[in-house]
Amino acid sequence: MDTGRKNSVCHVCAGVVREFADFGSQPLSDAFLPPGDPAGDFRFRLAVGVCGSCTMVQLMSEVPRDRMFHHDYPYLSSGSQFMREHFATLAARLRQDLTGPAPFVVEIGCNDGVMLESFAAEGIHHLGVEPSGGVAQLAAAKGVQVRNTFFDEPTAAEILAEHGPADVVFAANTLCHIPYIGSILRGVATLLSPGGIFVFEDPYFADIVERNSFDQIYDEHFFFFTVRSVQHMALLHGLELVDAERLTVHGGELRYTLARKGTRPVSPAVTALAAEEELSGLTSAETLARFASNVARIRTDLVELLRSLRAEGKTVAGYGATAKSATVLNFCGIGPDLVPFISDTSVTKQGRLTPGSHIPVRPPDAFADPYPDYAVLFAWNHADEILAKEIGFRESGGRWIRYVPDVHIV
Ligand code: SAM
Ligand code: TMP
Ligand code: ZN
Repeated sequence: MDTGRKNSVCHVCAGVVREFADFGSQPLSDAFLPPGDPAGDFRFRLAVGVCGSCTMVQLMSEVPRDRMFHHDYPYLSSGSQFMREHFATLAARLRQDLTGPAPFVVEIGCNDGVMLESFAAEGIHHLGVEPSGGVAQLAAAKGVQVRNTFFDEPTAAEILAEHGPADVVFAANTLCHIPYIGSILRGVATLLSPGGIFVFEDPYFADIVERNSFDQIYDEHFFFFTVRSVQHMALLHGLELVDAERLTVHGGELRYTLARKGTRPVSPAVTALAAEEELSGLTSAETLARFASNVARIRTDLVELLRSLRAEGKTVAGYGATAKSATVLNFCGIGPDLVPFISDTSVTKQGRLTPGSHIPVRPPDAFADPYPDYAVLFAWNHADEILAKEIGFRESGGRWIRYVPDVHIV
């Protein structure tokens, strides 16, 4: 793996970002292609680095936002039963904290309305901001109020003028997607009521390092947050990290709570996690070099395994045409010769080809017709749900191939 060659400018503090891992030329992770039209993949160099000043881990180059988030953006948040429950539970919790007479909740990146539908059902004043038109329509069809645009500083000012200040601003798996994060935080600081909170959930870099989950690195995931880097970023905008809670969803996340500086006590969890990051050297050159070398080993092992299964005449399928799988498939050079198809529940992906690797995506019934000998679990972050659902595959003698934290068969 090519590592540590280049520098770029930090999107948070304008410090120097030093590259530590390079995944080469990659397509857009969610650009599933119509069959017969595999040409025309947009390509960019996917590499990741760390800022020497504020420690923020980030991509070395940015893909224009309209190329990723547009009317046909295919990711549907409600595709996982577990995630539907996760957001319903969270909505109930946020609801308890809303004690004022006419609370207002804003979600950045509400997708198909998986979280806000709970607020809509209760008639609570809310607004989802969602640039991807197709998923925004799905949210609207559930009764969710949606603004079909990108959230940023000007949008926040418009929302404030039209609706007044927000008691809660929420974002899940969205803030880390936004390279122009200064504009977002300025917008949030404008929009929040004096005692309001900004809550966001995103993959935790400590979990990525611990699990070698390099497939969390793709075009849409621009930032990889830590408590330390978020603390620093918040202070630049008059905000403060007051709570951090570990979550098991999506392969390990943190739920961060920001408030205006000095308005709320900082929880012991923040102090403890920051100390843990410091002690483990989470963003040290040594840790990052070890991560890069683990990733190179996974690539070798996975390709060797798939080649040997092909040589033995075993059948293999993929499970879950995740955005994450684009990094794995394109970095490892895996195509339909090694994984002939991937099963996926998203109607938006079925019948299409995976970006760059051109593997057909089929609906789930193709998976059991007949079951393959082996299935590569690309949606490993939903493993509990999938393994329970696909008990028949295991009972028929099928085996799962996992590749984080290392390549193994279960
Ligand atoms: N919150 C949902 C969840 O956790 O499942 C959706 C996550 S999805 C990976 C990211 C969403 O962020 C997409 O629906 C995308 O259109 C949206 N998005 C990207 N940039 C945005 C921006 N500047 N403002 C609001 N939404 C944005
Ligand atoms: P995600 O890891 O970004 O949430 O994407 C999960 C993908 O896996 C999405 O395309 C839907 C698909 N999927 C299945 O095909 N079957 C399932 O049971 C689950 C939970 C997800
Ligand atoms: Zn920085």
